[in-house]
Amino acid sequence: MSIRSQRKLEHFKHAISISSGPQETGFDDLHLIHQAVSSRDLESINTEAVFLRKKLKFPLIINALTGGAPGLEKINEKLALTARHCGIAMAVGSQTAALEDRTWQKTFQIVREVNPDGVILANVSALADWRRALEAVEMIHADGIQLHLNLAQELVMNEGDRNFNKLLENIGVIKEKLKVPVIVKEVGFGLSMETVKKLQELDIRYYDIGGAGGTNFIAIENARKKSQIAKDLVSWGIPTVISLIEINETLDLKDATICASGGVYSALDIIKSLVLGAHLVGIASPFLKLACRSDEQKIIEFVEELILDAKKIMLLIDAGNLEELPKKPIIIMGKTREWLELRGIDASKYARRANL
Ligand SMILES: Cc1cc2nc3c(=O)[nH]c(=O)nc-3n(C[C@H](O)[C@H](O)[C@H](O)COP(=O)(O)O)c2cc1C
Repeated sequence: MSIRSQRKLEHFKHAISISSGPQETGFDDLHLIHQAVSSRDLESINTEAVFLRKKLKFPLIINALTGGAPGLEKINEKLALTARHCGIAMAVGSQTAALEDRTWQKTFQIVREVNPDGVILANVSALADWRRALEAVEMIHADGIQLHLNLAQELVMNEGDRNFNKLLENIGVIKEKLKVPVIVKEVGFGLSMETVKKLQELDIRYYDIGGAGGTNFIAIENARKKSQIAKDLVSWGIPTVISLIEINETLDLKDATICASGGVYSALDIIKSLVLGAHLVGIASPFLKLACRSDEQKIIEFVEELILDAKKIMLLIDAGNLEELPKKPIIIMGKTREWLELRGIDASKYARRANL
């Protein structure tokens, strides 16, 4: 097995045993406004969304996790069956191992085999050559491709990348050469206003914020091999909620699609994210943990419960569909508010939305 495939298995092992944090996502700083009078019926609450020209029953992506090492085909199969059954999207894990060694292709291709009509995203590093990015898309007939940014992880890994001087230029080349939408994705340290401004200049329209507070790759690297820098940086990154607001304040939401991810683990977190302007949300490690322990039936039950709970919360804030959510007021308190105000963002305007 290659070093890359071995590393994947190590990440996998540590990801299922290490808990989130120590950074907090910021969801506890957010409060939705209870509406005691609602004339809606739970059954009528509509959570359908369109993503990459296909209909989803719920705006959720099973985010990039795995493939490319022994035993991982089964995990991807369970996740893909869940995505098909629940009408949600799915991203595969980084396909580099399969681009280097064709034996691993089937661990990714299973995802398209079991879900021929669903929304499936390819995944490679933002540093990948555009021809490899194209091959990754073709390998699974993907509807779009995620380009992952993982500078913090690479820099704490002994064997990680050190040279990022062509990173932006490379993202621009991939965007230009590929016909499918390109999604720029962080993996748990968040996208800032400054980063998004640079990406906007390349006409990037899809962002996955991958904020801090969920899976923490610096903690995972520290568990693989202890180092002073990993210890020092264990709280590194922009919390998910702050990253989401920073980029919403930077982009025109009509021209961009934003996926909120990084510790978005409950129906309440999902609704708060959508109220803050996310178009959809991504969940990764909870799916990995479930897929390791259980069959797809249990994973499907987890998603169905999330959808039902999300509808209940929508009813409680008097929202009948997803379009109404970004108009709902939301109170931003605590550290999140302090951060935003220091960055020049007025948190009070979110609390004063008209509640249409
Ligand atoms: C075991 C594991 C492997 C991952 N592999 C990838 C990957 O190959 N490509 C990628 O873009 N993100 C990868 N991620 C990051 C997730 O897609 C996601 O951005 C991150 O885990 C934060 O979301 P979460 O808090 O819901 O887990 C991986 C995450 C885990 C736990």
